[in-house]
Amino acid sequence: MDDDTRRDGFPLSAWANQQVEAGGWIRLMFAEGQRMRTKHGDDSVVDLSLGQPLDAPPLVREAFGRAAAEFFPGRHAYMPNLGYPEVRERTAEDVAFAGMTAASIAMTGGAAGAMCLALRAFVDAGDEVVGIAPCFPEFRPYCETGALSFVPVPADDATQRVDVDALVRALSARTAAVIINTPSNPSGHVIEHDEMAAIVDVLEHHNRRTRRRILLIVDEAYRNLVYAPARRVEPLAYYERTVLARSFSKDMGLAGERIGYLVLHPSMTTAHTDRGLETCMRALGMVSAPATAQRALLQLESWSIDTGPYRVLRDHARDAAVAAGLDVADAQGGIFLWIRSPWPDTLGYVSALAERRVLVTPGIAFEVPERFRLCFTATPERLSRALAIAGELAARGAGETDGGAKATLLEPS
Ligand SMILES: Cc1ncc(COP(=O)(O)O)c(C=O)c1O
Repeated sequence: MDDDTRRDGFPLSAWANQQVEAGGWIRLMFAEGQRMRTKHGDDSVVDLSLGQPLDAPPLVREAFGRAAAEFFPGRHAYMPNLGYPEVRERTAEDVAFAGMTAASIAMTGGAAGAMCLALRAFVDAGDEVVGIAPCFPEFRPYCETGALSFVPVPADDATQRVDVDALVRALSARTAAVIINTPSNPSGHVIEHDEMAAIVDVLEHHNRRTRRRILLIVDEAYRNLVYAPARRVEPLAYYERTVLARSFSKDMGLAGERIGYLVLHPSMTTAHTDRGLETCMRALGMVSAPATAQRALLQLESWSIDTGPYRVLRDHARDAAVAAGLDVADAQGGIFLWIRSPWPDTLGYVSALAERRVLVTPGIAFEVPERFRLCFTATPERLSRALAIAGELAARGAGETDGGAKATLLEPS
């Protein structure tokens, strides 16, 4: 190793370098939070930037304990790539859709693994994947690592619903898949019947016109976190070329355990797709979803979780945001508030909040620069404190703080 290599490390690939240089806002805010906590102490920093779930409930923690203690020959060995057959069966029962069997299920490393698996298995290099902005920032790298182009289409800002005309305009002869995310990270929007029907109409029309068969990928990472009167609809009932990416990360508080699954519409499932998915699991380096997490799922009598604590926090955060005079999108589900920046310069406002030790994620991370995202899975006291500061800065106005000047502090490295 020569001196230069030792100092600079090994050069990153061009793509990785570009990612590092182009953004990584969530990572940046998280690092900033850690730096502040080390410097000022945990209590003085309110970090609402990352989408952390609440802690796993006791029943889930106990199930993991039992699963970790379990032993049988092969307990720690390689398993079928798509998961233990009994876990896939249990999952198919939980999906509860006509014709659903274990053959339509692949256990994955979270919804992230499920999305990557679907993209690798069903979309060809060079094709386009359309997503609705605001969107989870990782959609773009999930696509780009498979040599697919990600094409964001703005949602209607007033309602956060899919803008059907914009979707029609975004579809091209190269569009192979559309990603929708419900409940949405970051907007909290839940797609209901008429919106789902309208999206599917657009896809069917495009399919007829281009003789393609667009894949609909529904990211349901927050599926169980839907707050009445909003209601989940079953995407599989609308369109046959649908896959669902689901996760236990959020509602069960298992984000670090990396467990989720991909569901194929039963009409898509054959022995050939099974082999294709297995091949892609290995090609993506996942091989299989973690064994202990899969076995823990079997240890649980029910997979339905009390979402009451999330709802209480949603209500608290929303009320505090409204009392602070902020313009918040209707958080029908998920774990975030999606707030319009009260200053024209969102980065300036986010920086001014950071100066006051409140960390949120600027909307540019989600392809919508006019807003910012706040995760509400903190204590009510911390949420109140953060939103009171947010309201204070909003009332003071952009010109009257030094936040704008400090925006460069938060620019991704
Ligand atoms: C919209 C969305 N999709 C997918 C994921 C990935 O989740 P998982 O931990 O299940 O991989 C997240 C995580 O924050 C998310 O917000």
